[in-house]
Amino acid sequence: MSLLSVLNHQQSSSTPVWLMRQAGRILPEYRRVRTLAKDFKTLVKTPELAAEVTIQPVDILHVDAAIIFSDILVIPEAMGLNYEMEENKGPTFPRRIETVDDLSILHVAEAIELSYVLEAIRITKRALNGKVPLIGFAGAPWTIFSYMVEGKGSKTFSLAKKMLYTQPEFSHQLLEMITLSTINYLRAQIQAGADIVQIFDSWAGILSPDQYNEFSLPYISRICDEITEVPKTVFAKGAFFARKQMNALNCQAVGLDWNMGIAESRSLIPDKVLQGNLDPCALYGSIDDVKKETRKMLDAFGPHRHIANLGHGLYPDTPVDNVKCFIDTVKEYSTVLR
Ligand code: CP3
Repeated sequence: MSLLSVLNHQQSSSTPVWLMRQAGRILPEYRRVRTLAKDFKTLVKTPELAAEVTIQPVDILHVDAAIIFSDILVIPEAMGLNYEMEENKGPTFPRRIETVDDLSILHVAEAIELSYVLEAIRITKRALNGKVPLIGFAGAPWTIFSYMVEGKGSKTFSLAKKMLYTQPEFSHQLLEMITLSTINYLRAQIQAGADIVQIFDSWAGILSPDQYNEFSLPYISRICDEITEVPKTVFAKGAFFARKQMNALNCQAVGLDWNMGIAESRSLIPDKVLQGNLDPCALYGSIDDVKKETRKMLDAFGPHRHIANLGHGLYPDTPVDNVKCFIDTVKEYSTVLR
């Protein structure tokens, strides 16, 4: 299992590769199951189907890890704030968190409230039969907070940031509840069979460095300190300013987005395995260009302490052949080099 050996800082014979959002809509096989399930939430809540789409990219794309098919928004839902996934529009919350009084509708989520994800993990593990490791995941507290306060996606997340500026104490209270829920959830995912966990701080980049240090990092750090059973990866998109602090987290790997220079990141984060970071848009180029860009990325990371991935999730209109080319180029390069 080369991904696990790299995470455990052992020399590995090849660079492992997987893709964020690999189970998404680029695969016709996924769309078939998605149609069968009728909507996204039903798919997430039907463990057999969630397991099936989790395994598809392993069989079809030959990635070196599976990531459990779910969403970061299952946590707000388990805490009492339902989300809806509107076709082609993204997530929305019929009710959002506006004032301290709204805390009364929330509670710290317990593992049992997310048993459908845990069951999907158990089924997936059995089916994978040790072929590749299974990655569990959760959103970082700040990213979850921003959806709960905003009630939907946003370009600026100004409502969520306003909350940090105008009601810092209340913000910390809510972040604390999300953190405790996330710890319960990740622990249960590991008990159910997750071999690795990744924390997605997708909206890290909209905070100032000071706000990031106050409202995001301490909660990620707390999660990393509490979850010690398996290797952890922290991916904070846009948080180039926090790379030095990332090196101090109690985690094994740090994910880079495509804005983060590779050599510079190696020097700012010397103690971690790095994951990333090809621009997902590079996969729109010709097959030759995809090869060239992928090799350039691999040269910059070097053969060790690297997990090949994109700098953010795959876009749904990416040609499958180009995705396969990215994966195959990593695999060929690994054999040539070592
Ligand atoms: O990586 C995988 O393949 C595993 C599954 C996974 C999904 N969401 C499935 C999904 C993972 C790891 C996520 C995480 C997630 N969800 C994040 C963090 C990662 C990131 O991209 O920054 C965020 C911010 C969300 C919230 C979310 N879910 C949004 C904004 C959207 C709509 C936009 C979009 O990308 O489609 C979703 C929907 C979603 N989550 C889909 C999938 C496959 C598309 C739903 C569909 O099939 O129609």
